[in-house]
Amino acid sequence: MAEVAKLIVAGQELEFPVIEGTEKEKAIDISSLRAKTGYITLDAGFMNTGSCKSNVTFLDGEKGILHYRGYQIDQLAEKSNFAEVSYLLVNGKLPSTAELKTFNEKVGQSSKLPQGIKNILDQFPRNAHPMGVIASVTSALSAFYPEFIEQDLSAPQRDKVITQLMAQVKIISAYFYRRAMGLLPVESDPKLSYSADFINMMFSGPGFQASQDVINALDILLILHADHEQNCSSTTVRTVGSSKANLFASVSSGIDALWGQLHGGANQAVLEMLEEIAKDGGDYKKFIAKSKDKNDTFRLMGFGHRVYKNFDPRAKIIKKACDNVLLKLGVNDPLLEIAKGLEEVALKDPYFIERKLYPNVDFYSGIIYRALGIPTNMFTVMFALGRLPGWLAQWKEMTEDKETKISRPRQIYIGPTTREYVDISKR
Ligand code: SDX
Repeated sequence: MAEVAKLIVAGQELEFPVIEGTEKEKAIDISSLRAKTGYITLDAGFMNTGSCKSNVTFLDGEKGILHYRGYQIDQLAEKSNFAEVSYLLVNGKLPSTAELKTFNEKVGQSSKLPQGIKNILDQFPRNAHPMGVIASVTSALSAFYPEFIEQDLSAPQRDKVITQLMAQVKIISAYFYRRAMGLLPVESDPKLSYSADFINMMFSGPGFQASQDVINALDILLILHADHEQNCSSTTVRTVGSSKANLFASVSSGIDALWGQLHGGANQAVLEMLEEIAKDGGDYKKFIAKSKDKNDTFRLMGFGHRVYKNFDPRAKIIKKACDNVLLKLGVNDPLLEIAKGLEEVALKDPYFIERKLYPNVDFYSGIIYRALGIPTNMFTVMFALGRLPGWLAQWKEMTEDKETKISRPRQIYIGPTTREYVDISKR
């Protein structure tokens, strides 16, 4: 017999269906609650609330498990590449050789930015934060592709705008980096892999030779960031898309949500924290004490997670890659030792143990980005490039799901009760 949940509300016993996912997660379907009782549920930050059913990514926070379309993240990081993982997330299966070739060709067909977009990019101050630039310019793309701001795109149109955004967000990011550095832009080369093309557009110059170790390290980081079920930015993409706003607007909103320090912005904040600790003589114990002080808003950046109450599997892979990449590149970064020391002390501290706070994906990623020559204020852009296929997959799934409704949560009002208007002469 199907499992039900019973709830007694105002003396009335009600039953609600329990649904079970393919990985045995369970949810109480309360979609009929308000109609039956007039009551709503309240769950600040949606800590216990599911917004959708999804085929894309599975997380088990207690066991530290992350699967993209059923494939384990460590296997994908070891054996796959970012273009293949992007195809997997968006299309639901690993591509054949021919399918991957076609996907890469389609991404390569959008290797040119409209001149108008370049003109817009050239207006930004060179010291602008890149996240504000790529969010704005991603939205501005809608002005140059009116065919893609239709309400309901056909499947071929949807596939086209998805591969186009995979290319253009990468090019916009590299283009603005070159502008910020006072360098001429480098054109995208569709013959190169996604990561090789990005590294080339970022650093190409006289005598430059992209190292395969750098390209491989970037590819792994992009894979590890590619999706993470209904995190803040993916929920934002779904929410904006649920109103039938176009994909450029939805992704632009996702970039803005990712920018926050509690989310993707944490990778930049971790590096700035480590640099501060280094400047302060490397005394990370002082920073750990600060992060535990309730009167201090400071938090240990790169620690803690809404879902993972065990190690973030991505953090484990990145930490291992850190040693490997820095060794291969001959980089000796004192911040890595500070990060390792900080992690060791925090993981033995009752405050962190009781709250199940472990290093998350952002704790070590910045050390590798730094070793790859990427400036700190571009770290969250790197997160956005990695997360882009995840956002695209979530948006595609939402647009294809017949059960999708416009996102519109309710609230409990706690403001002033009804009162009469008072003329200004009497206030
Ligand atoms: C990402 O959702 C995703 O999947 C996100 C992400 C993805 O791939 O999309 O994984 C990427 O955003 C990773 C998280 C990056 N952010 C940070 O590293 C910022 C630092 N971490 C935190 O601010 C915090 O841990 C969050 C935001 C990540 C999670 O916060 P929650 O789930 O809302 O938990 P909370 O703030 O209610 O904290 C619970 C307790 C509190 O203490 P008490 O009130 O119980 O005494 O833990 C404490 C918090 O003060 N706490 C921390 C802490 N994180 C939580 N204390 C010190 N330092 C921290 N980092």
